[in-house]
Amino acid sequence: MNNISTTPSLVDQFGRVVDYIRLSITDRCDFRCVYCMGEDMTFSPRNEVLSLEECARLVRVFVGLGVSKVRITGGEPLVRKNALWLFEDIGQLKGLNELVLTTNGSQLEKQAIDLKKAGVKRINISLDSLNAARFKKITRTGELNKVLAGIQAAKQAGFDNIKLNTVLMRGFNNDETVSLVNFAIEQEIDISFIEEMPLGEVDHARGNTFVSNDDTLKLLQSKHTLIGSSETTGGPARYWRVANSQTKIGFISPHSHNFCESCNRVRITCKGELYLCLGQEDKIQLMPLLRHHPHNDEPLIAAILNSMKIKPKGHDFDLRRTAPAVIRFMSHTGG
Ligand code: 5AD
Ligand code: SF4
Repeated sequence: MNNISTTPSLVDQFGRVVDYIRLSITDRCDFRCVYCMGEDMTFSPRNEVLSLEECARLVRVFVGLGVSKVRITGGEPLVRKNALWLFEDIGQLKGLNELVLTTNGSQLEKQAIDLKKAGVKRINISLDSLNAARFKKITRTGELNKVLAGIQAAKQAGFDNIKLNTVLMRGFNNDETVSLVNFAIEQEIDISFIEEMPLGEVDHARGNTFVSNDDTLKLLQSKHTLIGSSETTGGPARYWRVANSQTKIGFISPHSHNFCESCNRVRITCKGELYLCLGQEDKIQLMPLLRHHPHNDEPLIAAILNSMKIKPKGHDFDLRRTAPAVIRFMSHTGG
């Protein structure tokens, strides 16, 4: 590579521009959501996980290559010690227009104000039930009240946007579809329904619990006037506005609708693996480049530019398969 600093743009072989990274800063979580994790999880040893300084360095390098949106994910990013330092460090980076966060909400009551001050623009908070006993059943260890308090704290902190993320599962929470939407309307925040994805081996057969977003949309249309929206984040979500409210409803449907054509993102795990697609194994290891060249970004930059050649055309999810398409968990790759 000799002209790496002259064309700072990440374009793959299909012409898709990558301007969005999702960085998982830990695979640990204080919850054990049934669709995400098994009951017993083994997490990565600390020395195999990116330090927060390494995370900051990666973000800086990607922003230098034209990335303008960064989502910090996990696991649960806010359970990582000193996570706030990272947000403060990258929050004011020139060129980084959107610093956003995905969280389970358990720590937001304490951290929302500081995150807003650090420069976090928008927050996605997972919420799968409004019933405390059921919330516990789905998350195994989560407290609904803590998350509800976290949502209030986020509202008070004044983020540009707050969105709930809900994974509907037949027999678990699909009867709460309408009440979750009504909650979002009352709170004047958004909500997205994410179809369950076959990531990692969990304790239930996913073919039995799968709820199609097409059915969810039909149900919600029978209760509310929904106005189609052309808004897009360049991702798999399609949005509808609820008439006479502040609320948008998103549908993230990896099964029913293929969204790969407009994919603008890559994912980095907490171990520094750069995954080019959520549903495929194609990846490169950034950790050795970070650790072998602590003061020289050129090898890292060259590897990232090169990785664009192996970004796959699309995912290959199929719930009818008995084994998961992808062995790694969402908590590993970052949601
Ligand atoms: N399928 C769909 N969504 C998942 N999440 C975690 N695991 C899965 C899965 N297997 C969601 C969580 C969270 C977001 C980060 O990813 O609900 O909102
Ligand atoms: Fe934790 Fe999110 Fe996975 Fe639930 S879905 S176990 S909150 S990482």
